[in-house]
Amino acid sequence: MGVVKVAVIVVAAGSGTRLAAGAPKAFVPLAGSTILEHALHSVAGMRDEPHVIVVAPAELVDDARGMLSRVIGRGEVVAGGATRQASVAAGLALVGDADIVLVHDAARALTPSALFDRVVDAVAASGAGAIPGLPVSDTIKRTADGGAIVETVDRSELSAVQTPQGFPAAELIAAYASAARDVTDDAQLMADAGHPVAVVEGDPLAFKVTTLWDLRRAEELLRPASATRIGVGTDTHAFAQADAPLWLACLEWPGERGLAGHSDGDPVAHAIVDALLAAAGVGDIGTVFGTSDPRFAGAHGEVFLAEARRLVEHAGWRIENVSVQLIGNRPRFAPRKAEAEARVSGLLGAPVAITATTTDGLGFTGRGEGVAAIATALIAR
Ligand code: CTP
Ligand code: MG
Repeated sequence: MGVVKVAVIVVAAGSGTRLAAGAPKAFVPLAGSTILEHALHSVAGMRDEPHVIVVAPAELVDDARGMLSRVIGRGEVVAGGATRQASVAAGLALVGDADIVLVHDAARALTPSALFDRVVDAVAASGAGAIPGLPVSDTIKRTADGGAIVETVDRSELSAVQTPQGFPAAELIAAYASAARDVTDDAQLMADAGHPVAVVEGDPLAFKVTTLWDLRRAEELLRPASATRIGVGTDTHAFAQADAPLWLACLEWPGERGLAGHSDGDPVAHAIVDALLAAAGVGDIGTVFGTSDPRFAGAHGEVFLAEARRLVEHAGWRIENVSVQLIGNRPRFAPRKAEAEARVSGLLGAPVAITATTTDGLGFTGRGEGVAAIATALIAR
């Protein structure tokens, strides 16, 4: 296969009965535009340029065409059917020579573009269907009429699935052609047709706007910040004299010389903590975590970061992003940069960029006596 051709079908032909907002759901206003336009912005941000097909209610095909041309500037719009399945089928008729088809609910208005790319990559790598899903966090009960509990379902085997769902185009088209029943997602039709489908990691932002509460949540997430603040933090640790494990950016670095400190000596984590506390004006690492406090002796960076995040959020702020630079000769950071960024971003619930540099042999970092880090944090409310 040469260049993989991708088509994305955005289904937007539902009526939105549960939302009951006076218009078909995809056309309901959301933060200055509509649910459909937000969904199209996500498609526009994909790494590759897919063929885009929007499936709209018959009476709104022209409106959808206007939105599609404004947001993406290419693609097609077709009228949907009475069920989601019929709407997907209408879109499938237009996929042309695509190798991979993604089917996406317009109602998942805030889905990150990266999730589309992840699904494309998974289908391209496996040659089979891939759908995003998240672990279920609530305990799930099976109940009978009237509410009596029949059993508790083992939640560890459950996944709450989302869209975009991606499949090899030919298989999906064949599965739709031979569909024998009405289903609520495409993966189920593929399973009926005997094709394997795997779940890849989903994204909380891919939640479906179904009720008024979901719409309010989406509005809240898109609300522009009315105030922002920044903070800076630095931290320095000397390499330990005795054998000690190295902890940096909340990761252990086997085979590297450790750093000395009351806690695990993680300068990346500590610099971020100071930057966050300074931005929110809620103290600094010394006053908040006192080195005499036995709770923090030997504690890892995640303990400090979680507490700093809690204090920032408790003061009414949310973390927008953090940028950190590590200064030192060792360890070689680049090979684990992505892992470190994912770890710290996950702990803070915000994007974190971590870069590393040396000092051309100058100063204590250049002589290899220790490691320093400088962090900047932006918070908003
Ligand atoms: N959808 C569609 N055609 C249909 C039904 C649904 O294209 N006949 C689309 C919706 O527009 C939505 C997605 O499928 O983007 C998921 O469906 P759902 O959340 O159920 O939306 P609605 O059917 O519009 O909402 P409701 O079930 O509350 O009426
Ligand atoms: Mg529906």
